[in-house]
Amino acid sequence: MVARGVGGDAARRPLVGERLHGVARPAQLERPRLLQVLALEEQLGAGGAVERLVAQHRRAAHQALDTRGGGAHVGEGGQLGHDCRIVAQVVHPGVVAVSQPRMLVHLDGAVLPLEQARISPQDRGFLFADGLYEVGLAWRGRLLLWPEHERRMQAGLRAIRLPLDTAPLARAGEELLRANGLLAGFAVLYVQVTRGAAPRAHGFPEPAVPPTVYMTARPHRLHEEAFVEAGVSAARVPDPRWARCDVKSTALLANVLAQQQAHEAGAWEALFVRDGVTLEGSHTNLFVVRGGELWTYPPCNYVLEGVTRNVVLALARDLGIVVRDGVEALVDPAAADEVFLTGTTTEVLPVVRIDGRDVGLGAPGPLTRRLRAAYLARLDELAGR
Ligand code: PDD
Repeated sequence: MVARGVGGDAARRPLVGERLHGVARPAQLERPRLLQVLALEEQLGAGGAVERLVAQHRRAAHQALDTRGGGAHVGEGGQLGHDCRIVAQVVHPGVVAVSQPRMLVHLDGAVLPLEQARISPQDRGFLFADGLYEVGLAWRGRLLLWPEHERRMQAGLRAIRLPLDTAPLARAGEELLRANGLLAGFAVLYVQVTRGAAPRAHGFPEPAVPPTVYMTARPHRLHEEAFVEAGVSAARVPDPRWARCDVKSTALLANVLAQQQAHEAGAWEALFVRDGVTLEGSHTNLFVVRGGELWTYPPCNYVLEGVTRNVVLALARDLGIVVRDGVEALVDPAAADEVFLTGTTTEVLPVVRIDGRDVGLGAPGPLTRRLRAAYLARLDELAGR
């Protein structure tokens, strides 16, 4: 892993007027259009300097983050909030102004500011959720595991009968990362494709209309080790989803409601239960460890075949861990020795409580730790770090 807080200009005190780039995680809406910056992280070249800069001026009231650029999502405790790029500037001795650069998005081949992006109300993504999406990780502006995401998207496009050449997406995604200045640290690329805009009618438009392709890119940080060490809780909910959960459809209402229900129950993730078996999370895959063996629901139409899941399964096999092909251990996951979740933005995350019951000793287990370490090492390898 990259050492944190080490920047080229580490010891230098920024000058009045100097602009420094960094990343912030807005956590609490203070008053309209002003957010309090809770965390600044070294990600961009001078990010460490931004952190020090703000630390040096901490007494100068709260740092104001101007959200005119849009795109900041405010979540509780930073957990649900997205990181955003910021620019910090000493405007006066003792006063730091923190502003948010404009967020650029990709829409149908063009890169433009978010607030200028216009999608027709007749878009079938809006009217019918007639579309697919992918969420991919990037390191220093380069997509990681994109062939795996692209293969899944191609399978989804075939399933929903939406012809689209996915080959240009990777380059367009990396261009968007560059346009947003996301050339240091991790970033997350969101790609959505819909069947395009046409007067509302259930059947496909005739003649066909061009698909809508939309992408966003945001800075991203891996979980803090303290958060991972504490583990998360999960709540089981009945699975009301359609029988094509292998398709990464934008129709996520069941996932939205499940996640909200879990959140209101004080849990981090909702786990879908169908026919008495716990399948996966609202946005994660589920793994269970029992007697030193690993269980996860086999790929089929009731779960999404996660890219992270497949990386973790390959790592488990390399480590000589037995991977079981079955669902018995998924009937009552709280009774397992260990449980963890996987996902592009979730990494490998221990679940220590399910429906209020401790899993194992109520702390991350040894196999989870091994697999998390192996997964982070694999990310390093993919990133060439
Ligand atoms: N969610 N299962 C579901 C239902 C998901 O939505 C996701 C991903 C996963 C994990 O897949 P992967 O390892 O390829 O990220 C499993 C994305 C991240 C999301 O909706 O934001």
